[in-house]
Amino acid sequence: MPHAKTTPFAMPLPDALAHVDRVFGIGTILADEGQDIVAPYYVQSEPGYKRVHSEKGCMHMALNTDGVYTADGYFTQIREVADQIRQVQATRVLELGSGMGFNTIALAPDHGQVTFTGLDLMAHHVSTARNDAGHLPNASFRQGSYTEIPEDLRGADVVFGFETLCYAADLDAVADQIAAALAPGGRFVMYDGFRRADFAAAPQDVQTAARLFEVTTAVTNGFHTIEAWDAALRRAGLVVLRSQDLTDASIAGLRYLHNRSARFFRSWKYRLLRHVMPKYLIRNAVAGLVGPYMIEGAGPRSGDTMGAITYSVLVVEKPR
Ligand SMILES: C[S@@+](CC[C@H](N)C(=O)[O-])C[C@H]1O[C@@H](n2cnc3c(N)ncnc32)[C@H](O)[C@@H]1O
Repeated sequence: MPHAKTTPFAMPLPDALAHVDRVFGIGTILADEGQDIVAPYYVQSEPGYKRVHSEKGCMHMALNTDGVYTADGYFTQIREVADQIRQVQATRVLELGSGMGFNTIALAPDHGQVTFTGLDLMAHHVSTARNDAGHLPNASFRQGSYTEIPEDLRGADVVFGFETLCYAADLDAVADQIAAALAPGGRFVMYDGFRRADFAAAPQDVQTAARLFEVTTAVTNGFHTIEAWDAALRRAGLVVLRSQDLTDASIAGLRYLHNRSARFFRSWKYRLLRHVMPKYLIRNAVAGLVGPYMIEGAGPRSGDTMGAITYSVLVVEKPR
């Protein structure tokens, strides 16, 4: 089987942008740039995440290192956290932006000695997570923001957040919250999309693809650069142990969503759904369609031009 990186896209980027423009209006979507749409986006999108991403409510990218999408890719990030739990012999773990609880619920059964708490902004995510975790004595979920982590959740040996810190507006303030939440010697693990530092050098249509992806996933101020996060975490007194570009491993999962979304744009029957489905839910089809171009570049094949977005992990430690 060819590696996902060498196969053609479902359609060239100009065709994809033309489809998006015809169905939704690129200008109409980008008019949301700078607006806070996180709450309506997640209220409307929950059924979509459950249906397309995973029955269990996983809301992050699959990472498949062999270039072939499998649902096991959703556990790559979770295995890293399990490794950190083992390394620091954690007894308290805090998940930031825990969504519908997929990660904490996956970790809790194998770590009976560890108390897990998930913190998420959205009440309906918290209640879904609580329902799904009902049988787990060591996992609980709270509604709240990582901009104000409750004091009683401080002292965690491991803090982690997958694809949630992209919504932070003030990186220094959130980095300070993370530092305060960690016990001395504790670790913080963050997986996310990032704008490349040379984002502005990417071809204009690749930048447009990236901006469309950002807005249709409610990251309306654009992904941060990893350099900005790295610097904010250091200013908060934390030590960066690892900063690793995993963009290649995200390609298979993004291509999977791309191919599903291409079917929507090519079928008039699917397109009719946009008249009956909530706008932020249906716009996830845009993110699905344009995702690969923003990281692989344009042209008929991956890598013909530079991309604008990376997917990376940061592992950080609080000094003793
Ligand atoms: C893409 S989802 C990822 C969910 C989860 N980390 C996962 O891997 O399935 C992003 C989550 O971040 C949450 N979120 C956004 N801003 C937040 C904030 N300031 N504090 C806590 N959670 C937040 C959203 O409600 C959403 O559940």
